[in-house]
Amino acid sequence: MQRTDGGHLRLGVNIDHVATLRNARGGTHPEPLRAAHAAAEAGADGITAHLREDRRHIRDGDIEAIRAEIALPLNFEMAATREMRDIALRHKPHAACIVPEKREERTTEGGLDAAGAHNELAPVVSALRDAGIRVSLFIEADPRQVEAAERLSADIVEFHTGTYCEAAIAGEMARADAELEKIRRAAVLAGQAGIEVHAGHGLTFDTVAPIAAIAQMRELNIGHFLIGEAVFIGLAAAISRMRDLMLSARQDVIE
Ligand code: PXP
Repeated sequence: MQRTDGGHLRLGVNIDHVATLRNARGGTHPEPLRAAHAAAEAGADGITAHLREDRRHIRDGDIEAIRAEIALPLNFEMAATREMRDIALRHKPHAACIVPEKREERTTEGGLDAAGAHNELAPVVSALRDAGIRVSLFIEADPRQVEAAERLSADIVEFHTGTYCEAAIAGEMARADAELEKIRRAAVLAGQAGIEVHAGHGLTFDTVAPIAAIAQMRELNIGHFLIGEAVFIGLAAAISRMRDLMLSARQDVIE
């Protein structure tokens, strides 16, 4: 075993909530494209955007503008529908992260049931992979879901960190630790299966370190907290502090 920096841990900045704010007034400000430029300048490794079926935040034009102007990899979050598959095939993002989507939910609640929905997911995953798009599945840290991701030949799994963050922020440390342990174990399984490990949802300055310290972790996708924090300290400062916390959490990673 050797002590390393554990490989570079990438930060994908999710800009959905810049679009939420813009759409609240129905105009053009604040512009998600400008946030993507600012994130790139502040050292983000990628831009993440979720084009929802109801277009409640990101719109088709935002994806077009980001693809045209932003050199960073785009992680395109999408439901496994024919419409989204076709949009992904048209824009050829670096990665497509398949998420469950219900119209009435406020955000993506819970992971994808990759085990139960194998037959619906398989053609979407293979169409995207055939086009050279890396496919990520947003799942719970559950061994059944990791196995299902392997059967689907997913390149990446992104573990849903929502329950861990919720428990940690509420001070329910036993529940947070149990969730963390599930994520650690699932990351080991994914690593053994040759699947790249990402995580996201609800991460904040206070909750990021234990997730960043998981040896197999390669990317975190963070949105709501960074955009919220940007109101107080600016987007560049929020991104830079998050990066620092991620980096210091990896100082002692042993592989
Ligand atoms: N990863 C995925 C797959 C998501 O659906 C979301 C939320 O859109 C995030 C990461 C980012 O979550 P948050 O906005 O809570 O940081």
